[in-house]
Amino acid sequence: MTVRHPRGGHGESRDLAVNPVFSREPLRVPRYAMPDGEMEPATAYQVVHDELMLDGNARQNLATFVSTWAEPEALRLMDECAEKNMIDKDEYPQTAELETRCVHMLARLWHAPDPRDAVGCSTTGSSEAAMLGGLALKRRWQHRRRAEGKPTDRPNLVMGVNVQICWEKFADYFEVEPRYVPMEGDRYHLTPETAVELCDENTIGVVAVLGSTFDGSYEPVAGIAAALDDLHRRTGLDIPIHVDAASGGMIAPFLDPDLKWDFRLPRVASVNTSGHKYGLVMPGVGWALWRDRDALPDSLVFHVNYLGGDMPTFALNFSRPGAQVVAQYYNFLRLGFDGYRRVQRTCRDVATRLAAEIARLGPFELLTDGGDIPVFAFRVREDIDRFSVFDVSAALRERGWLVPAYTFPKNRTDLAVLRIVVRNGFSHDLADLLLDDLRRVLPRLDKQHEPHRDADDAGGFAHGAETKNPLRPGRD
Ligand SMILES: Cc1ncc(COP(=O)(O)O)c(C=O)c1O
Repeated sequence: MTVRHPRGGHGESRDLAVNPVFSREPLRVPRYAMPDGEMEPATAYQVVHDELMLDGNARQNLATFVSTWAEPEALRLMDECAEKNMIDKDEYPQTAELETRCVHMLARLWHAPDPRDAVGCSTTGSSEAAMLGGLALKRRWQHRRRAEGKPTDRPNLVMGVNVQICWEKFADYFEVEPRYVPMEGDRYHLTPETAVELCDENTIGVVAVLGSTFDGSYEPVAGIAAALDDLHRRTGLDIPIHVDAASGGMIAPFLDPDLKWDFRLPRVASVNTSGHKYGLVMPGVGWALWRDRDALPDSLVFHVNYLGGDMPTFALNFSRPGAQVVAQYYNFLRLGFDGYRRVQRTCRDVATRLAAEIARLGPFELLTDGGDIPVFAFRVREDIDRFSVFDVSAALRERGWLVPAYTFPKNRTDLAVLRIVVRNGFSHDLADLLLDDLRRVLPRLDKQHEPHRDADDAGGFAHGAETKNPLRPGRD
């Protein structure tokens, strides 16, 4: 990695300016080099604090799925646990116990056949959890192929092109061929038929997403499972599903209890969710669960003993903060099932109402309405040629709203949308303020002769846009 000075120009060489109340002598604080000497804690605090002021208002950030608000009690517990390292399970046995309790609660929430037999762990987020889920699929496939005396050099993973970037990373880092089902017409995610079409004897699994990052829609997990059951009957190919329920894993159990997407489907081998999304914890914590011990090959589990006891671990990191796991347990305890249902219901109500109001404004068309995860995407109507979604995004930014605009991946790169993620803390009142601002900017945009901004000039938004794959522009 090279060291990058993001702001080039003269800002690069100028030292940081320190408020003169902190020092009689002008204090020099180099920007990109460690200072030679010390400074008072209050001075250092103020320098850092002032710089961070420019980060923007997290509550107006409608781009991120990750929590931007937590109760003071949760924050206090996190503060009290700042020194706890999740890996030191012998030193912090109660933190480890709280992690185990959370895994059991999630196993019940997701209907593991025997919750005591389900295995799982906390992670830094859904990305690490997805890597672990993918690795387990790969290892199981390798074991099976070797037992059959067949080659194991060409594993592939089937998924919609709408998967989050973490799956592209998994495929790249762990040398699995990614088989993306492209979008087509009004189909923006994976379907049973399109998934099965790409499967063969080298398929380690199918990833189904509960709450697509692109538009918030649930993929039809039960339908995909049924199609794979049928494939099994017809051909003998027995392909497991990993559900990426980064968002939906903490929405569907509370709001769509009859939707079968979880371990009720025997074909679902593993599930991940982000504790720091609709699990309502501050970043970063995720969860990975396997339906039973058979789904997680023991050969992937490391037994570490040098911290004073036998400690089975399956993780990419060694050290990791324990505070978020404690906060997750706090939330489970504090809200219980009914509390989570109320919080998620409110998010969905805000999302669906806001989506409907936006549709009523005239120039917009909804792709989704916030009725799955509380996230929806909308476009500028095709007959409107004076402004683009990128203009709308930039105009809203003038009032502090971060509403990302982006183009869809193959085969709908022609389609550009705006997306709004409603999280706990984004109230009906805030939604009304956003609507007022949208109403205010539309007449001005309508006076333009043509769009001013396009995907390459999206008003500073490149939210998580990292990809090596020409099929997908990469989102969040
Ligand atoms: C469907 C999906 N999977 C995975 C991730 C990555 O999650 P995390 O940020 O917790 O690593 C996201 C993030 O938005 C997501 O939406």
